Amino acid sequence: MNSPVRGRFITLEGGEGTGKSTLQLTLQRRLAEQGIEALVTREPGGTVCAEAIRALVLNPPGEMSFSPLAEALLVNAARIDHLDQFIRPALAAGKWVICDRFSDSTRVYQGVSGAVSSDVLLDLERHVVAQTRPDLTLILDAPVSLALERRAARGGKPDVFETRGLAFHQAVREAFSDIARREPGRCTLIDASLPASDVANLAWSAISARFGAVNARP
Ligand SMILES: Nc1ncnc2c1ncn2[C@@H]1O[C@H](COP(=O)(O)OP(=O)(O)OP(=O)(O)O)[C@@H](O)[C@H]1O
Ligand SMILES: [Mg+2]
Repeated sequence: MNSPVRGRFITLEGGEGTGKSTLQLTLQRRLAEQGIEALVTREPGGTVCAEAIRALVLNPPGEMSFSPLAEALLVNAARIDHLDQFIRPALAAGKWVICDRFSDSTRVYQGVSGAVSSDVLLDLERHVVAQTRPDLTLILDAPVSLALERRAARGGKPDVFETRGLAFHQAVREAFSDIARREPGRCTLIDASLPASDVANLAWSAISARFGAVNARP
């Protein structure tokens, strides 16, 4: 039997509350309507071990905190497990994978304001991600105040990154836009201040532009 064609790997990136999780489920549904099975997953996380690391990084025990380099190593350790146990097998089986945050978030969150040098972060990325680079990265971009309002309205306990000040979130937004500008072949910047249906349509256009007409049905 021929092995199936490798699936597509789509990552969703952007700051807190920009609508990544909302878009992920909409895209999964739209792909299913076209007969394409897309698995949804997230980072840090996506496997039992990686989710344990997620809990440690996002909500460190007690009043503890990790240094940016320690965070970078932990999220990359989680990513190795996620890639090995989940993402690569799914793609090899011909499934699409839509991942809520991936390596760009590490570049941004651990690299903001030079916390960890981009040389170190990119070197780690080369070893960890290797050939499994996303086929398409959708970067959701919205004014920080709007995204944080939406995030607050959603409720839930804020994690270590969400409690940081406006300047941090502004730097995060700029760093994501910068990645989109530098890697236009992989990344599409999407205006996430629009209504959710418009955001989904823009994302769908980007998917169609990258992969051609998306339809697995005969
Ligand atoms: N385009 C949109 N317009 C208005 N509200 C939106 C839009 N997209 C998402 N929302 C709402 O904003 C809130 C945050 O969205 P969502 O949880 O999808 O963001 P996120 O990027 O996944 O956030 P986080 O970084 O915290 O995981 C949710 O209540 C969601 O329903
Ligand atoms: Mg989310």
